Amino acid sequence: MRMKDLVGGPMPIAKEIAEMIEKSSWIRKMFDEGAMMKARLGDEAVCDFTLGNPFQEPSHRVINRLRELVLDDASGTHKYMQNAGFPWVREKIAEHLRIETDQSFTPNHLIMTVGAGGGLNVILRAICDPDDDVIITAPYFAEYIFYTANHRARAIVVETDEHFQLIPEKIKEAIGPKTRAVLLNSPNNPSGAVYPEEALAQLGEILREKSSEHNRPIFLIMDEPYRKLLYDGVKVPWVFGYYDQSMVVTSHSKDLNLPGERIGYVAVNPKDQHAEALINAMVLTNRILGFVNAPALFQRLVAELQAEECDMSIYKKNRDILVNGLSDIGYNVISPKGGFYLFPKSPDSDDEKFTEALKEKNILVVPGKGFGRAGYFRVAFCLSTDVCERALLGFREVYKGCGISQKS
Ligand SMILES: Cc1ncc(COP(=O)(O)O)c(C=O)c1O
Repeated sequence: MRMKDLVGGPMPIAKEIAEMIEKSSWIRKMFDEGAMMKARLGDEAVCDFTLGNPFQEPSHRVINRLRELVLDDASGTHKYMQNAGFPWVREKIAEHLRIETDQSFTPNHLIMTVGAGGGLNVILRAICDPDDDVIITAPYFAEYIFYTANHRARAIVVETDEHFQLIPEKIKEAIGPKTRAVLLNSPNNPSGAVYPEEALAQLGEILREKSSEHNRPIFLIMDEPYRKLLYDGVKVPWVFGYYDQSMVVTSHSKDLNLPGERIGYVAVNPKDQHAEALINAMVLTNRILGFVNAPALFQRLVAELQAEECDMSIYKKNRDILVNGLSDIGYNVISPKGGFYLFPKSPDSDDEKFTEALKEKNILVVPGKGFGRAGYFRVAFCLSTDVCERALLGFREVYKGCGISQKS
């Protein structure tokens, strides 16, 4: 059934949700076509770069610890706990954050969440009044638009520069009396950009000034599920030293390869004078959004694994093969500093037409318009290296077809 039939039709679906389905119908179309293509040609024949779903399994350490925990039948193991999560788990994470950030984290600054996605919804529900503005930067993680709408807030989109770095002045211009938060993602999906200390420091200045001008705190929310997925010795600075009204939301979907298990947390800056009120609000929103608490088993698992490093060897190999291969062909691509996505310029200014042409070569990528920046495309390289190598021929043929002269 076409979505047109749903909007205003007899189907019992909320108008706003029907419109969201309509708006994101190209995502569904892309996944449906990809699935059909794989069914027709076999998984091996399709180079599917559409999903940010890590192909690697959790490490042996993670699996072995999980085995031990499953066999632990101490009483109370599977019961509800405080909505913020097990106190001892939060203490373990607080301990890790104290070492990492030099800030005085306690369990009372933390709430365990159903992944970063759950955490973002818990935060936005707690801080947004209807029609509040949440500033995001393009290109953005597409779900931000829906998450803000979930809580009757408006996403205000501000562009980044040609290297996908923040333009603090532009963020400043976008701030008004309704601005409740600035939501940033570093390392960035889809661009791979990491925001340096100077950018956070500048932004902190701006937010202090604007919060006092409008007489309401503007929160800085850092969404950091790719914090440990880094290249070239780059480090992701912690925001806490630059702005008191800040929080970090993260998960172990990508660094421990556990996206299906839905485990993450929100950390509120201990220096935020409203920290207690914020955590209390999030305890409530975690409950009333129906999450109740983050999965007990996985809270217990990740408590012990905060210092675990992420094996970047395959991602680095994939990144280099694709960045070098695509650049040699002539694509304009910035090498990502973190995460596992590339966001090259589409050689055809119509990114949808370009992704359609790639599809003819059995290569699936996502058009940039889905991330708020048309004229680009996203390649998720969290898959096996041979797929990256295989795809280069198709990328070359489609590039040639776009009628742009290649580099030598
Ligand atoms: C930028 C960003 N934020 C949040 C999420 C949600 O991650 P989680 O699986 O932790 O909900 C993702 C997932 O791809 C992401 O890319």
